[in-house]
Amino acid sequence: MTIAGKPLPHESARGHVTGGAFYTDDLLARFPNVLHAWPVTAPHAHARVTSLDAAPALEEPGVVTTLTAADAPGEADSGPSRHDEPLFPTEVMFHRQSVAWVLGETLEAAQRGAARVRVSYEALPAILTIQQAIDTGSFLTDTLRLARGDVAALDRSALRIDGELSIGGQEHFYLETQAAIAWIDETGGVVAQSSTQHPSQTQEIIARVLGLTRKDVTVECVRMGGAFGGKEVQANAWAAVAAIGAWKTGRPVRVRLTRELDMALTGKRHPYLVRYSAGFSSAGLVEALRIAFFSDGGFSLDLSEPIMWRSLFHCDNAYYLPNVEATGRVCRTHKTSQTAFRGFGGPQAMVAIEDILSQAAQRLSIPADVIRERNFYREGHVTHYGQTVDDAPRIDRIWRQLKATSDFDARRAAVAAFNAQHDEAKRGLAITPAKFGISFTASFYNQGGALVLIYRDGTVQVNHGGTEMGQGLFTKIRQIAADSLGVDAERIRLMATRTDKVPNTSATAASAGTDLNGAAVADACRQLRARLDAVAADLGKDVAFEELCEAAYMRRVPLFAQGYYRTPDIHFDRATGRGEPFHYFAFGAAVSEVEVDRFTGDYHVRRVDIVQDAGDSISPVIDRGQVEGGFVQGMGWLTLEELLWDEDGRLATAGASTYKLPSWSEMPPDFRVSFLQEARQSNVVFGSKAIGEPPLMLAISVREALRDAVAAFGNGDLGGNNLGGNSVTFDSPATPERIFFAVRQVRAERLSAEARGAKADASLR
Ligand code: MTE
Ligand code: MOS
Repeated sequence: MTIAGKPLPHESARGHVTGGAFYTDDLLARFPNVLHAWPVTAPHAHARVTSLDAAPALEEPGVVTTLTAADAPGEADSGPSRHDEPLFPTEVMFHRQSVAWVLGETLEAAQRGAARVRVSYEALPAILTIQQAIDTGSFLTDTLRLARGDVAALDRSALRIDGELSIGGQEHFYLETQAAIAWIDETGGVVAQSSTQHPSQTQEIIARVLGLTRKDVTVECVRMGGAFGGKEVQANAWAAVAAIGAWKTGRPVRVRLTRELDMALTGKRHPYLVRYSAGFSSAGLVEALRIAFFSDGGFSLDLSEPIMWRSLFHCDNAYYLPNVEATGRVCRTHKTSQTAFRGFGGPQAMVAIEDILSQAAQRLSIPADVIRERNFYREGHVTHYGQTVDDAPRIDRIWRQLKATSDFDARRAAVAAFNAQHDEAKRGLAITPAKFGISFTASFYNQGGALVLIYRDGTVQVNHGGTEMGQGLFTKIRQIAADSLGVDAERIRLMATRTDKVPNTSATAASAGTDLNGAAVADACRQLRARLDAVAADLGKDVAFEELCEAAYMRRVPLFAQGYYRTPDIHFDRATGRGEPFHYFAFGAAVSEVEVDRFTGDYHVRRVDIVQDAGDSISPVIDRGQVEGGFVQGMGWLTLEELLWDEDGRLATAGASTYKLPSWSEMPPDFRVSFLQEARQSNVVFGSKAIGEPPLMLAISVREALRDAVAAFGNGDLGGNNLGGNSVTFDSPATPERIFFAVRQVRAERLSAEARGAKADASLR
């Protein structure tokens, strides 16, 4: 191993910063006769389409044609699981849903045409909140359930906490909005260049809407300008519309959503409502937890069911729960269909359990870090779904290392000293762990494929099923291929992801891109290396790689190989709620320190320290980028980013002007990321570990540090003083407004406690 483990720059870094990197919409320049598509969108959250007349659009100069239900030769539905996402709906299910499309010589022509399409609607009542959905029985799934032991233990616990927590969703805000271009190739096949995490499924949906088979459709993805789960299934519809347009007109058709359209039309992270009852011993051990998750799935099923499963799998985070009943149900509302987003339902559940533990710490006057530590999984412990936490001691190792390197105890004292001297501002400090299960919980997705080609001149093309979205998958795979073949990285070219090179691929998701596709590439390279080694032995002398390849060719040794990998030993039975759904767990922990202003609720993060378990990192610079980016994205979700819908179901925050995103000004000024050492993961490619999603959940430490600071406005820090049995709670995101009101409440509680205390003192005299 010489190239893996080196801090190589991202293979597209130069292209990213120079603008040279190619993205889907850049194809535009290659197609002078391309048509531009623009949707006709509905002004209701829920309505019946009573009539649609597209003909007036054709009077607009530059409009070429319109797309309505009659134009799809196949089934015009892009629903990935249920077929519940009609491309030309007769019942509008969310505000701005597209009901027809217009194709124009220019985007402006298509837009003018769309404005001319006459649609009448009969408005219907809309369900816009989780509570309304529960009240009216509007659900997309049955109740899913994972349980162990007996939650009746709740009634015998020394401390019982009952509560409700509302957790907001999140807009992906990938820099590159949804985009696809489709055309008919020289042989009559349909080709699409699509910004998709899942080219094989985009291929499937295009074949479905055109009534073709998969062999007739090729999908390519060069790279995405960010996806974050938002293009796992939600890229398909746009590629399907482009394909229908290309099929109808014979010309290339381009769909690219503007930022405003993208925010209005595409799904987000699911908002959650969580109801819980938790029982604790006086020492702070969780004795029982009953927890019910309700997610806002929006109008269609999408990936909401596996996302809810992942919530149920992660309601323990890093803690052993002896008695637990976790249930989850996806609510159907008249909103965009909520979808995958980094963490995939894990984050919401982990926010909930961390919230509960912090409240218990406050109520029991046990420091929050101590209560967390006491509840950690230990060696031999089994999760509530029957999987042994093999590497439980890693949680302890990470925790101890981080506490030492972050100077946790000394800073705890420094924060208390600051707080004793300041009434206008308080600081908070918190440490939280994260344990995240790696593998798709639908076991069949856990496979990867590769096709590696060596040319006679000793250069190599690597094809595999994964897609590049900025996460550095291609960089890592290049390193894996180089080491597996024993050549320099410069010899190796990573090819765009194409369905005609590697078929039946899984989405690049669940953080498993390198684990699956990297292992498949390594498999192909091993076969090739063995063939080349045999040739070298035959030659009887050391020759340069290109000479060896030429010699192999002359000896009629094939220089291409397919590679394949399937994750071993994973299974899960939904009916019994038992199995080993994860190949392994990724662990990490973070310490965050914040300062909160009493008068405005405004706050800033002062310092963040992270220790992440990346196994034997294949690409340390890439992994650091994933940790920093994931953390800041999580912090945005938990603190700043707030999705608001108005009473008509219109997304009120459909632009960067109203939806606040973290920017450089929110970056922790002191940000220290390190990796667990000697952390080789057995049975994973090159001993590495998945890194894409887990760091996002480390941002929960910021939410908990804010809670710590708010508590200090009441009766001091949580390291000893409590609030007279009260605990600080607030919904997510912890915006400055929410923090302001939380501060006001704890101050009011303190003042009334002091007044009572004064009275008690007076009565003594
Ligand atoms: N990093 C960047 N820069 N852009 C992205 O879109 N997506 C995240 C994560 N990191 C994303 C990212 C998500 S949701 C996942 S599942 C993983 O990358 C997917 O890639 P991997 O499996 O190769 O880690
Ligand atoms: Mo990531 S949410 O699994 O695409």
